[in-house]
Amino acid sequence: MKTPQTTSGARRALGIFLWVIGTMSLGVLPVEAGIANTKHNLSPSSATGNNKVAAAGGTDEICVFCHTPHAADTTAPVPLWNKRLTTGATYTTYATLNSSSIDGEILPVGSISLACLSCHDGTQAMDNIINAPGSGGYDVTGGGTNGLGFTWSGTRVDADGKMTNTATSLSMLGNDLSNDHPIGIKYCGGGPTSANPTAPCVDPDFVAPSSGTVNGNQVFWVDTTGGTTSRNKTDMQLYTRLFATGNGPSVECGSCHDPHVENGQTNTGLPTSGQTFLRVSNTNSAVCLACHVK
Ligand code: HEC
Ligand code: HEC
Ligand code: HEC
Ligand code: HEC
Repeated sequence: MKTPQTTSGARRALGIFLWVIGTMSLGVLPVEAGIANTKHNLSPSSATGNNKVAAAGGTDEICVFCHTPHAADTTAPVPLWNKRLTTGATYTTYATLNSSSIDGEILPVGSISLACLSCHDGTQAMDNIINAPGSGGYDVTGGGTNGLGFTWSGTRVDADGKMTNTATSLSMLGNDLSNDHPIGIKYCGGGPTSANPTAPCVDPDFVAPSSGTVNGNQVFWVDTTGGTTSRNKTDMQLYTRLFATGNGPSVECGSCHDPHVENGQTNTGLPTSGQTFLRVSNTNSAVCLACHVK
């Protein structure tokens, strides 16, 4: 049990603590602001975004367009996902090109890539939100294809809130992914699996993946030059999926992109490039060369 004295001492300590936090956040806010300074801030406060909702009848929240603390979609392994996801069956994948040089198995679109495409394929409104802000905002359909009917402004969005392209922008990738870097693709032509994570790559033209166990799950990533032995956000993340040869590492949208990272954001201690949400800057094609030995 606390004496009044320690309580007031604790209160004073708390006061100093809050003052320090306040001062600190004032000092570091411009650097740490992260996603608020990116095109993934779809709120009225966005200075960078080409697309944003109006304050009236919209929301000033940022995370809600992608995450919810409760009642998230669990059909794909994406953290606390707040939008309706498709099954992935509607996409044309890179596999249809029958590229003669491809080695790895290409799976149907899945995993985190489904989450990106829930906006970037342009078929569903960006205000499709399962758990809308405030009490009583829950709708498992997220309002359906046309979402919640927020009012949008911007150059790359239609009246329903679906992402569109201009003559020179490619933000909206559509359903045909055969002209995009392969996703759902087995890393390095196969070799490493969850059962045998250190097996050599079938295709030697790839940097060998790193692996480790996090909470009992086998995870894979490709170390970037800033590398420590542990997995960092600036490493190319590989996502474990079930291939014909068993669970193994797959390249997905999130392998190359971190959807939160601001351009030039430095709080990771490593060079990052957020303009196109890349995990590392692509100067000298560093993104490509992280995986490809070329
Ligand atoms: C445009 C969509 C989008 C927005 C907006 C967004 N996120 Fe995310 N977030 C994602 C995706 C996709 C993942 C999965 C990333 C992965 O698997 O690498 C993720 C993962 C995360 C994770 C777990 C992995 C990690 O990177 O730490 C946290 C925590 C998180 N988000 C917090 C937030 C918070 C807090 C906000 C608002 C300030 C936010 N996100 C806004 C798309 C978004
Ligand atoms: C809630 C909807 C939403 C989700 C989910 C989402 N994005 Fe975006 N994204 C946007 C909007 C809106 C823009 C800005 C479009 C523009 O300005 O052309 C954007 C822009 C981008 C850009 C920059 C495009 C450019 O032309 O500069 C990249 C890269 C990107 N997103 C990747 C991703 C990836 C990867 C994921 C999944 C990890 C993801 N996004 C998830 C809405 C979303
Ligand atoms: C192998 C790495 C890689 C993967 C996987 C990847 N991207 Fe990208 N993406 C990039 C790079 C690099 C750029 C920057 C291209 C540029 O500067 O023109 C980019 C650019 C973009 C852009 C902006 C388009 C442009 O070139 O102007 C969008 C939108 C985007 N990515 C979304 C996605 C989505 C959604 C996925 C998954 C379906 C995905 N990316 C998968 C590497 C990748
Ligand atoms: C996260 C790792 C990773 C990154 C980063 C990456 N790739 Fe790839 N890339 C792959 C994998 C895996 C394949 C499939 C190779 C196979 O199975 O033969 C592939 C395939 C390709 C192919 C060949 C497709 C074919 O038909 O044979 C090209 C070309 C390519 N990538 C170019 C790039 C470029 C350019 C960049 C940078 C913008 C890049 N990649 C970044 C992993 C990556």
